[in-house]
Formats: sequence, C-alpha cells, structure tokens
Amino acid sequence: MRLKDKVAIVTGGGVGIGKAYAQGLAQEGAKVVVADIQDLEAKKVAADIKQAGGEAIAVAVDVTSVEKTRAMADAALKQYGRIDILVNNAGLYSALKKKNFMEIDPDEWDRVMAVNLKGLFLCVKAVYPAMKQQGKGKIINISSGTALNGSPLFLHYVSSKAGVLGFTRALAREVGGDNICVNSIAGIDDLRLKPGRRNDARAACGPAQAALYPAGSIPSGFGGHSHFSRFR
Ligand SMILES: NC(=O)c1ccc[n+]([C@@H]2O[C@H](COP(=O)([O-])OP(=O)(O)OC[C@H]3O[C@@H](n4cnc5c(N)ncnc54)[C@H](O)[C@@H]3O)[C@@H](O)[C@H]2O)c1
Repeated sequence: MRLKDKVAIVTGGGVGIGKAYAQGLAQEGAKVVVADIQDLEAKKVAADIKQAGGEAIAVAVDVTSVEKTRAMADAALKQYGRIDILVNNAGLYSALKKKNFMEIDPDEWDRVMAVNLKGLFLCVKAVYPAMKQQGKGKIINISSGTALNGSPLFLHYVSSKAGVLGFTRALAREVGGDNICVNSIAGIDDLRLKPGRRNDARAACGPAQAALYPAGSIPSGFGGHSHFSRFR
C-alpha cells in the first residue's frame, strides 16, 4: 500500500493499458479517478476497483476539451479534495491503422496530435493549480518505444509520442521547483501478448512505481519501462 490515500487520475483508464494502470494504482492504495471518453468502460473499472475493496470514481472526459479536462480535475477535487498523481495515458493507438505516410489524411494527423499531445497539455493545465497549492504532485506521461526506434507506417502516432518526450522534459524543468515530478513511461505492450506470455502485474506497476519517485530523482529501468524524469 505504497500510495495509501493518494489521489490519482488515470486518463484513458477505461480500457487497455490505462485500465491496468488504474487497477495497479488502486492496489497500491490510491483513490483512483478513472477518466475516459468511454464513460461506460470507466464506470466498470471504478466499480471493479470498489468491488475489490478500493476507492474509485469514474469521470467522462474528452482530453481535447479545455472544459472537460477542467471538469475532470474539479470532479477529483470535489470527491477527494486533492490530486496527487496524473497519469496522462489517454491516446489514439488501437483506433489507428498503420499506413504509408502519404496515405495519412491531414485531418487524421491533427486528431492524433490533439489527443496524444495537446490532451496531455490540457490535463496538466487542469491539475496544476491543485498540485501547486498542495506543494507537490506527480505527472506521468505515457509515451512509446516507437518514438525511440522510429516504427514505420505510423508517422503521426510516432511523432506525437516523440512530442511527449520533449513535453515531459520541458515541463519537468518548469514545475520541478514546485516539487512536482514529471516522468514519461515508454508504455509497455505486455497486455497485448498472448495469455501466458504477458505480465499484467508488471505492466500495471509502471505508474505506481513512477509515482513514488521524488522530484529531483533520476529513476531508470524499473519494471521493464524506459522513462525520463524531472530535472532542474
Ligand atoms: N498498446 C501498446 O502496445 C502501447 C505501447 C506503448 C505505449 N502505448 C500507449 O499507452 C497508452 C494506452 O495504450 P492502449 O493500447 O491501452 O490504447 P487504446 O487505444 O487501446 O486505449 C486508449 C484509451 O484512451 C481513451 N481515449 C481515446 N481518446 C480519448 C479522448 N479524446 N479523451 C479521453 N480518453 C480518450 C480510449 O477510450 C482508451 O481508453 C496510449 O497512450 C498508447 O499510445 C501503448
């Protein structure tokens, strides 16, 4: 229970890896705000966490909306009074088809950037006032190994995830002085592996682990994730 009574928002927490992150944080004792555009899925995850003895609420959010991201932070504050951890996980990944870059429509490019990059910016803007007032906070941005190895046929996605790395480093330097630690996890595809080969527990531990690092530390190599930290 290393995160007992901490309040964590997980965007895109209704399905996939975000669901595992939400459950992993709850298992460590965090009160989890499961925020997703798929609000029915978010409600199911929150119900499962409560069923297992944890604390959670579901919030419908579109991370590309200023109003909705503010409402997400307000809902967390109304329910739990604070926001300790933001896991910026929501993204367009499963919804995208791999294709030659010449076939990527500019509107699709814009949508990927809006969700995968601007969405992080808006969520951070929504939670920052509370974290600053508290004098501490953890922001964990989910990037992707594709940004480091340059996977082909996914140019918009890979570019957005490379943007997450620069966003993380620059934000870390800006808010480190507020005792807010900003990390990026490259993500993990264990949950996509066939049963028997995957390790949900290992995948789920990423944000919980990252949330434990103090501002100013330089974590590396935990849980099979590659990531960056806040430096000032
Ligand atoms: N699956 C992988 O192999 C892998 C590897 C590395 C990184 N990642 C990253 O990890 C994260 C989760 O991956 P996944 O495979 O579970 O992705 P996914 O595409 O299956 O799920 C993404 C989640 O984001 C939510 N979402 C999408 N648009 C949204 C919006 N506008 N507002 C709020 N929520 C929205 C979806 O409802 C869903 O819950 C993503 O950021 C992805 O890029 C995934």
